[in-house]
Amino acid sequence: MKKITVVGAGNVGATAAQRIAEKHLAENVVLLDVIEGIPQGKALDMWESGPVEDFDSAVIGTNDYSDTAGSDIVVITAGLARKPGMTRDDLLMKNAEIVRSVTEQVVPVSPDAVIVVVSNPLDVMTWVSMKTSGFPKNRVVGMAGVLDSARFRLFIAKELNVSVMDVQALVLGGHGDSMVPLIRYSTVSGIPISELMSAERIEQLVDRARNGGIEIVNYLKTGSAYYAPSSSAVEMVDAIVKNRQRILPCAAYLEGEYGLNGMYVGVPVKLGRNGIEKVIELKLTDKELAELHRSAMDVKTNIDKLGM
Ligand code: 2OP
Repeated sequence: MKKITVVGAGNVGATAAQRIAEKHLAENVVLLDVIEGIPQGKALDMWESGPVEDFDSAVIGTNDYSDTAGSDIVVITAGLARKPGMTRDDLLMKNAEIVRSVTEQVVPVSPDAVIVVVSNPLDVMTWVSMKTSGFPKNRVVGMAGVLDSARFRLFIAKELNVSVMDVQALVLGGHGDSMVPLIRYSTVSGIPISELMSAERIEQLVDRARNGGIEIVNYLKTGSAYYAPSSSAVEMVDAIVKNRQRILPCAAYLEGEYGLNGMYVGVPVKLGRNGIEKVIELKLTDKELAELHRSAMDVKTNIDKLGM
């Protein structure tokens, strides 16, 4: 593909742009932010690493959406992090406003783009972007399951002392707190993890993955995770750019699948050139389905609060 824009030049956005360039995923990488100078400086610095890192992609920093025109993919990372004294609801309202404004400016200049949303609270922000864009549901997808699964996979690999490459895990539901890991589908080279460790231990690893974002915030104090979140977003970008038809857990707009309607929530999807090529509907147990619905209700409650 020719052009990929990343909106938001904070740690997640800038690291995503860097990974996109270093993985040769686009001829032009555009990094946009409202703050003057930051996207320009970070982008030029990144571009200057091209001769050493071996990429020919142009990396352009800008505050102007006209520079993003004709993007094939737009990754939205813009949004505030929670500040002291701010409630989750304050954050919800503020970031909804930001994501709506970003989407309104992206769409007229890149009407054929696939939008990958990374801003939090993830599932709700993806819904905001989709509703604002007027795009078909397949062209707006949210990143979360890849990240939650990556964390879970790492913890499993460490526990069993096996390569992360051989660990597969499937996580459904909303991002973070309410994620629903499907233990039955979590394997080491096809061997269910339930045959390799105790139920108690699995539950501990699930818990750690569920709180993976907070664990990083507690260390960093002034910010949240960005290496793994940017990797996860870029894995989705790679699947779209190369039309790979990868099966990845992503936030997808549901219209009846899993008995859910009119909301975004994490489910396995097939990702390709058109964004979400297909939602994969698994046969869940009653318990798994109940957990997924509980998680989806949290997302729905927040969507309703927006009154959009
Ligand atoms: C995370 O899980 C903050 O959503 C981000 O690290």
